[in-house]
Amino acid sequence: METIYLDNGATSFPKAPGLGQAMADYLDNNGVNINRGSYQAAASAANGVLETRELLGELFHYRKESHIIFSAGVTQSLNLIIKGLLKPGDHCIVSAMEHNGVMRPLVQMAAKGVTFDRVPCDRRGRLVLTGLEELFRPNTKLVVMLHASNVCGTLMPIAKVAKICREKAVPFVLDAAQTAGHIDINMEELGLAALCFPGHKGLMGPGGIGGMIVTPSLAAELEPLVAGGTGSHSESEEMPPELPERFEAGTMNIAGIFGLRHSLQFIKNQSLEAIHHKEMILTACFLDGVKRMDSIRIVGEPGMANRMAVVSLDFLNRDNSEVAFQLAEQYGIMTRSGLQCAPSAHKSLGTFPQGTVRFSFSYFNTEEQIDKAVEAVRALA
Ligand code: ALA
Repeated sequence: METIYLDNGATSFPKAPGLGQAMADYLDNNGVNINRGSYQAAASAANGVLETRELLGELFHYRKESHIIFSAGVTQSLNLIIKGLLKPGDHCIVSAMEHNGVMRPLVQMAAKGVTFDRVPCDRRGRLVLTGLEELFRPNTKLVVMLHASNVCGTLMPIAKVAKICREKAVPFVLDAAQTAGHIDINMEELGLAALCFPGHKGLMGPGGIGGMIVTPSLAAELEPLVAGGTGSHSESEEMPPELPERFEAGTMNIAGIFGLRHSLQFIKNQSLEAIHHKEMILTACFLDGVKRMDSIRIVGEPGMANRMAVVSLDFLNRDNSEVAFQLAEQYGIMTRSGLQCAPSAHKSLGTFPQGTVRFSFSYFNTEEQIDKAVEAVRALA
């Protein structure tokens, strides 16, 4: 049976063509550390890492490469910011659509005396913007928000949120888990304090690598959560003040970074516009196919406006997890069911606790695959 991968919201597959080879080239032919050795191989590895930062800077429109910090992924980046910044007595604002990548570190901080509020969202996952302004307090230190819902693809009005945050002089941190590599994000123009990105989703790289771009003003407030060797200031037992080292203690996932360099180059060659265009065509095709089926509800935005290529369905007469199982077993279609690590989002969308069946498309899916998925949905609904 042909398999059809429609779980790109979880991780992209296939990845950028040649990704494995790019990582193998580093591991088999170089494999050394950066910032530590004075030999040529170390300089060559460091150069590959720098090129990756440059590609990220170009993609996200941020020119200060030293402020582009590698981490294990978006979850680790969010932890580094939420736990590195907030102190007992501080207040934080999030949306009611957040993934647990934001909510779990925040709830851990709540146990230490941090408070937080959620800006309400409607049944389509849209932020109630008027609800944001009234949540600011004198002790509000941070606004963190996802760019698009991992459950239903609804986009947040981040330019408006960023503007309000600038007026209130509160840093705005964007979780770009579902948008990095899918649409243009202009870090400078938006005036973000930080942007957290995964390498393995829209950027088509390997798991275990991602990062954050942090502006100097936010970086100055951040306590480095992980301390250790950086290859710099080795006379000192304190973390160095310079970035990126201040937030990159220990040996990094350099093979992952080389993989990311390759996938970023692939995205650049294809162009973000072409990738987004194809993903939107596939999404339109899917929505068109399922919209008139009575026994399913399209969760979130029902049309093409204000969304990414992530569509959640609630099968009204069926158990959604069983449907996802049958999609895989009978049709070879891979989706993700349940709550997708975002209970707060499902409460907003009215799909808690039953969850949904989530279909998330990529540049590499075909219209023929989408047609097959629509037929399978029809048969199972
Ligand atoms: N956050 C990823 C998802 O939504 C893993 O599936």
